[in-house]
Amino acid sequence: MQRLAARDLPLQNAFLKAAKLALAGWSFVYKDMDMSTVEIRHSEPEDYLAYHRILAHPLVYRDTLQIPFPSLDLWSKKTKELPVGMHRLVACVDEGVVGFLHVEVKQAARRHHAAEFAIAVDPAHFGQGVGSALMTAMIDVCDNWLNLHRIELTVFVDNAAAIALYRKFGFEIEGTSRDFAFREGRYVDVHHMGRIRPDVQK
Ligand SMILES: CC(C)(COP(=O)(O)OP(=O)(O)OC[C@H]1O[C@@H](n2cnc3c(N)ncnc32)[C@H](O)[C@@H]1OP(=O)(O)O)[C@@H](O)C(=O)NCCC(=O)NCCS
Repeated sequence: MQRLAARDLPLQNAFLKAAKLALAGWSFVYKDMDMSTVEIRHSEPEDYLAYHRILAHPLVYRDTLQIPFPSLDLWSKKTKELPVGMHRLVACVDEGVVGFLHVEVKQAARRHHAAEFAIAVDPAHFGQGVGSALMTAMIDVCDNWLNLHRIELTVFVDNAAAIALYRKFGFEIEGTSRDFAFREGRYVDVHHMGRIRPDVQK
C-alpha cells in the first residue's frame, strides 16, 4: 500500500494525491504532523463496535445529533445497511477504527449535485489529523469520483474544532438556524456550512 508523509501532502496537493491513491483501490494512508498513520477505508458490518464506542462518548454525542446511550443493536443493524447514495468512510490507526465520516448524495431529483456529511473522531485521537484525513478522502471522492458540485453540513455554533476543520477544507458559513436542536437541557443554534467545488465556482 502507498504511504504518505505530512511533508508530501501539502493542502494544495492533497486532492490530486488522494485521487491517485484512490485509483489504487479507494483506500489510502495519511500521515499527519506527529507522524501517526491514518488509513481510510469503507466501513464494514464488523465496525459496529467501534461506531458504538465512539458515539457513546459524551464529547461526541454532545456535538452531533445523537443521544446518550446509543444502542449496540441499532448500530449493528445500521452498519449492515447502506442506503442509496451513502458512502461511509472510517479512519483506522493500527487497524483499529478511530473515526468515521458519512457522506450522502442527495436523492431529490434536483439535488443530485449535492451531498451532506457527518464526521466524528474518537476523543482519544482528537487533534492528531484523523478528521483531516477523513475530510481529504471525502472531498476527493465527491470532487473527483462522484462529480459533485456542492458539499454541505450543519454544525453547532460553539463547535470551534469542527468549524476550524471545515474552514481548513474550504467550507464557508452560509447561514444560521436558531434553536435548531436540544442539547444538555437547552436549545442550540447551528451554522449551515457549504463548499462549492473550486473549479466550478463562479
Ligand atoms: C471535529 C472533529 C471531527 C475534528 O477531528 P480531529 O481529528 O480532532 O481534527 P484534526 O486533528 O484533523 O484537526 C483539523 C483542524 O481542526 C482544527 N482544530 C482541531 N481541534 C481544534 C480545537 N480544539 N479548537 C480549534 N480548532 C481545532 C485545527 O485547525 C486543525 O487544523 P491543523 O491540523 O491544520 O491545525 C473532532 O473534534 C470530533 O469528532 N468532535 C466530536 C464530534 C463532532 O463535533 N463532529 C462534528 C459535528 S458537525
